[in-house]
Amino acid sequence: MTRIIGILSGKGGVGKTTTVANLGTALASHYKKSVIIVDCNITTSHLSLYLGMYYSPVTLNQVLTGKAKIHEAIYDYHVPGLRVIPASLSLKDLRGVDVSRLSKVIRKLTDEADIVLLDAAPGMGREAMSTMRASDEVLFISTPFVPSTMDIIKCHQVALEVGTKPLGVVINMVGKERYELSKDEVEQLAELSVVSTIPMDKNVLRSLALKTPVVSFDSTSPASRAFYELAGKLIGEKYVQESFFSRLFRLFGGGRK
Ligand SMILES: Nc1ncnc2c1ncn2[C@@H]1O[C@H](COP(=O)(O)OP(=O)(O)O)[C@@H](O)[C@H]1O
Ligand SMILES: [Mg+2]
Repeated sequence: MTRIIGILSGKGGVGKTTTVANLGTALASHYKKSVIIVDCNITTSHLSLYLGMYYSPVTLNQVLTGKAKIHEAIYDYHVPGLRVIPASLSLKDLRGVDVSRLSKVIRKLTDEADIVLLDAAPGMGREAMSTMRASDEVLFISTPFVPSTMDIIKCHQVALEVGTKPLGVVINMVGKERYELSKDEVEQLAELSVVSTIPMDKNVLRSLALKTPVVSFDSTSPASRAFYELAGKLIGEKYVQESFFSRLFRLFGGGRK
């Protein structure tokens, strides 16, 4: 049974695309799941840039204009088990895109993978709403500040109206500063449970410059550990960190974990 999980937020720049790229990689590489990640942020698509995929002849745009089938827009990533459906990086490919078709085309991925992760546009406009409707479950991304948490309240209400199951909130870019909202405060404000907190971590930005998810770039960095744990929680498995010697053997001994 394929789980279709939307990654949404009210505010932009809070870490949706980062979460999709890293959860997808962690679920495939560490938990051996078959995963498809989809860039549903059609107007400002970024997912392929985060993964170093600059040229894709068929994208979700062609699928949503009716010129291609969804299966023609699926690409293998170099992480075994992880596949990507990118959106076009070109402005001209926005012509004729009908986002109301998203739900129908995403349903065609049922039985294609264990998990499908949808990277949404921010807010509650047509693009984000189409992603919400295409999702069976939804994970909200916020930061430890009032504006992004307040936006989650609205997203949550809309999810309930649409009939999408809320999985909770991920608080990203946590710096443990006194002026940040605590996990309890976010839970009280948003009336949702906090599934995970992801620390502010410079390695996320370093990995972005290298066009690779941080969980692949440095699997022991604080954000990577948090993403591995979050991936485990989503599928009900406990994250057991790879031992130093096993990592050494995998990196230099030629074996795959
Ligand atoms: N935990 C983190 N630590 C540091 N930088 C982060 C973290 N999460 C995301 N970022 C950075 O924040 C920026 C916005 O993230 P992004 O995933 O594109 O947000 P969204 O998709 O919600 O617009 C990117 O430059 C990303 O590298
Ligand atoms: Mg994004």
